[in-house]
Parts: sequence; C-alpha cells; structure tokens
Amino acid sequence: MPKIVILTGAGISAESGLKTFRDNNGLWENHRVEEVATPEAFAANPDLVYRFYNLRRASLAETRPNSAHAALAELEQHLGSEDFLLVTQNVDNLHEQAGSQRLLHMHGELTKARCTACQSVHEWPNPLDATSRCPACHNTASLRPHIVWFGEMPLYMSEIYQALAECDVFVSVGTSGNVYPAAGFYQEAKAFGARTIELNLEPSANARDFDEGHYGPATKVVPEFVAKVKTGAYG
Ligand code: OAD
Repeated sequence: MPKIVILTGAGISAESGLKTFRDNNGLWENHRVEEVATPEAFAANPDLVYRFYNLRRASLAETRPNSAHAALAELEQHLGSEDFLLVTQNVDNLHEQAGSQRLLHMHGELTKARCTACQSVHEWPNPLDATSRCPACHNTASLRPHIVWFGEMPLYMSEIYQALAECDVFVSVGTSGNVYPAAGFYQEAKAFGARTIELNLEPSANARDFDEGHYGPATKVVPEFVAKVKTGAYG
C-alpha cells in the first residue's frame, strides 16, 4: 500500500455550497481579507471579526459533505491511518462529518475557540463574543476564533513536514496554490521522492510542476482518483 498525504483547499467544499476564497473579486463574504482575517483586524474591530466567524460557524449546521469528502474518508479506511494523512487548509468541518480520522486543520477550525490568555483550545459550537468566558482560566474577552489569520504561523507544521518526507504519493485537491507554506508542500514531498498529483477544477498556479493532474469538479475527480488507488495503480 502506498503512503499518501492529501492536502485539501476550499475547492473540495465548493460543491457543498461553501464559497472559495479567490473566486469572488478578492472579497470574502463581502469583506476584504484584511478586515476580518488578520490579528490587526481583530484588535481594531473585534465585534466585526467575531460576527464574521459566528455567521460562518452557524452556516456549518446546514452544510453537508459531498462525495469528494466521502471518497477521502473511504481512502483512509482502505489504506489504514498509518499510511494516510489528510491535511486541510479549510476551517469547515466537512471532512469530520464525512468520517475522516487522521486529519490536521493547518489553518484552524471554525468550531473551536482559543484563549489568548492561557492558550487553551475549546470546542465552541455557539456564537463567540467579547463576553465569552474561557472554560480553563475563566478570563473574559480573551477568547478568539481558532483560526490562523494572515501573518500567523499555521498549525502542525512539524507533523506535516515529517509526513511529506515519508509519503509515496502527495495529492493536492481544490487549492489554488497561492498561500504558503501549503502551496510548497508538493515541492517538499517531491524532493523526498513522492509522486505528486493535482486534482482541481482547473490547473493551479503550480500545475506544470506536478507529475500528474486531473481536472474537473472535486465530486468527479476525487472519487475517480480513490477508485484508481484501490486498483493498485499507485503501488
Ligand atoms: P482558493 O479560493 O484560493 O482556491 C480554490 C481552488 O479550488 C481554485 O483553484 C479553484 O479552481 C478550485 N475549485 C473551485 N471549485 C472547485 C470544485 N468544484 N472542484 C474542485 N476544485 C474547485 O482556496 P484555497 O487554495 O483553499 O487561508 O485558499 C488557501 C488559503 O487562502 C485558505 O485556507 C485561506 C485563504 O486565505 C487562511 O485563511 C489562512
């Protein structure tokens, strides 16, 4: 069985009804990224930032995974968690809803809050605001969305780089390849000898450098890829 690392981006959730980042004139739910997704924005206008993520968190209640999420959960079952790692840039919970287990949210999670006073992270299904109290240290006004904002360090980097060095196949799904370090993962995996594959609606910024590319909606190309792995096409 091959060892596979999958990186997903907003494109895998598009057919579940979640907007991607760069298909909307650079606007994100009508906000410029700097207004809602930077530490500076949170310091300047915390209520706007809380509200923005509260709305996005609430929308998850009506959002269901699609057949691409399901296919990746099935691939994990097929390979076993030892030989599989799913790294997502997405902050939605559709991979979990589909049943994925070995999953790292490198850009954080909408369904969690982090305390800036004691650094604890908590499941947070409800709206978050400046009156929310940290369940661990009991401070108020110290909780923020557990989201990696622009200018902040993504999560789980050492675990991810170790898996990239050890994998036989690296697959990038539904990501435009604009945001580093995720956009450079394929180069890292390739340097350690992995076969690199892109699955996307259209060729991404780095498409030429992948060993293989399959283009179309995620609900088509991801299940097709998983079926191919099961035939033994990748070892
Ligand atoms: P983007 O919006 O940059 O790219 C989405 C990609 O998905 C594009 O290449 C689309 O062509 C593709 N796509 C759209 N619909 C699709 C479909 N039905 N099937 C397959 N592919 C489809 O989103 P990301 O690459 O995920 O970071 O963005 C990366 C990061 O930039 C995000 O995690 C976020 C953002 O700023 C942070 O918040 C830190």
